[in-house]
Amino acid sequence: MASSFGAAQVLVASNRGPVSYEVREDGSLDAKRGGGGLVSGLSAIGPDAGALWVCSALSDGDREAVRRGVGEDGVRMLDVPADVHADAYNGIANSVLWFVHHMLYQTPLEPVFDAEFRLKWASYEKYNRAFAEALAEEAAEGAVAIVQDYHLTLVPGMLRELRPDLRIGHFSHTPWAPVDYFRLLPDDIAEQVLRGMLGADRLGFLTRRWADAFTACCEALVGGVGDTRIGVHGLGADAEFLRKRSHEADVDERMAALREEIGTAPDGGARRTIVRVDRTELSKNIVRGLLAYRELLAGRPEWRERVVHVAFAYPSRQDLAVYRDYTAEVRRVAESINAEFGTAGWTPVVLHVKDDFARSLAAYRLADVALVNPVRDGMNLVAKEVPVVSDEGCVLVLSREAGAYEELGEDSVVVNPYDVSGTAEALHEALSVGAGERAERSKRLAAAGTALPPARWFLEQLEALRG
Ligand code: F6P
Repeated sequence: MASSFGAAQVLVASNRGPVSYEVREDGSLDAKRGGGGLVSGLSAIGPDAGALWVCSALSDGDREAVRRGVGEDGVRMLDVPADVHADAYNGIANSVLWFVHHMLYQTPLEPVFDAEFRLKWASYEKYNRAFAEALAEEAAEGAVAIVQDYHLTLVPGMLRELRPDLRIGHFSHTPWAPVDYFRLLPDDIAEQVLRGMLGADRLGFLTRRWADAFTACCEALVGGVGDTRIGVHGLGADAEFLRKRSHEADVDERMAALREEIGTAPDGGARRTIVRVDRTELSKNIVRGLLAYRELLAGRPEWRERVVHVAFAYPSRQDLAVYRDYTAEVRRVAESINAEFGTAGWTPVVLHVKDDFARSLAAYRLADVALVNPVRDGMNLVAKEVPVVSDEGCVLVLSREAGAYEELGEDSVVVNPYDVSGTAEALHEALSVGAGERAERSKRLAAAGTALPPARWFLEQLEALRG
């Protein structure tokens, strides 16, 4: 029996891995490495810890890399058939589970759980099984495996059956739906998701609120969480990395370019900036943020020419029509504000849609006000990052529906994300905070937002599973 075990002592499983590949014109493969909490977490345990990251091939380049046997040490990419992956990732994870946890359905017409849904669900099961089998094959006896997110809710239960010796964790990076909303899912599917996750020894959530919602779903639908432990680990920003990275030359260049775009007020003074940086996800509420800004300019004309809304809305999940439509709406509303209020020397909304990390950091440094108004969000790291990076301190306008609200609410201007007029008022209030007060608040926000840096966030979970 022991001979069939693998060698990995610590395993992480996620849909998106730390590396992606593109086929160059000459046929060779170009590898790109990503960042994020898990990358720092795994690097914190060191190269000799026997760690393995199991992820899915997401693109043709990734599949080609798997077929050619090209790969990184410590990463195993699964060549799940493209149609199975598309159904599981786009069809179920992003179009059903993401919608449920972020409460995004327009319920008069959706969701519709029909025969087509069942076919996609079968792909989701297949895709989860591929992960469970790979983990079972790679794990050393008694190893720890931490499974990530809504893409892989069935893996803990499947893996438990294959390898009862393992210590299995699962971490949710999204909110968890309240019971009544979770019950939009067909009963058997809802139960399968909960039982799948309860196959873990321990489940991690970003906030107490999401952990409690999960527990409430289990109590209502499957008689409770049983022996599975529940933990809360509020992922924070990586202060050390951000402070260093935001002072590199490319960020300075982007700052100069942004300052040009922002321009100066008619009296020659610096214009105030309201900064937002998001992936264009349906939950980020970028459109209502723009509408609130429009209402600010309409209702408080004293701000015209004196403020610029710097809005970065980077592409996300563009395979889905509803995401493409949302991106188009963001552009349309931004353009209409510029057409309505713009003058020869003032562009009220500076919108960028091409992902550029250095430019995001430049905007963080310039921010007087950071607008983070999601309708619902697991945490929202932007809320934690801007106060760390901003040069002169920023005021945070924060949705009470963001996970970060639990830690940052006290020092923010808090908004109901649906209340556009309330958000306009909050922007006015935030813009009016004096320099001293702003710096003080920003310092407290930065301290709270960096309390649990990514490496410690990961190690805490590892220790809790081993302990
Ligand atoms: O930001 C929330 C989140 O669910 C992360 O947990 C996850 O890494 C990411 O979104 C998934 O995004 P994508 O669909 O681009 O891989």
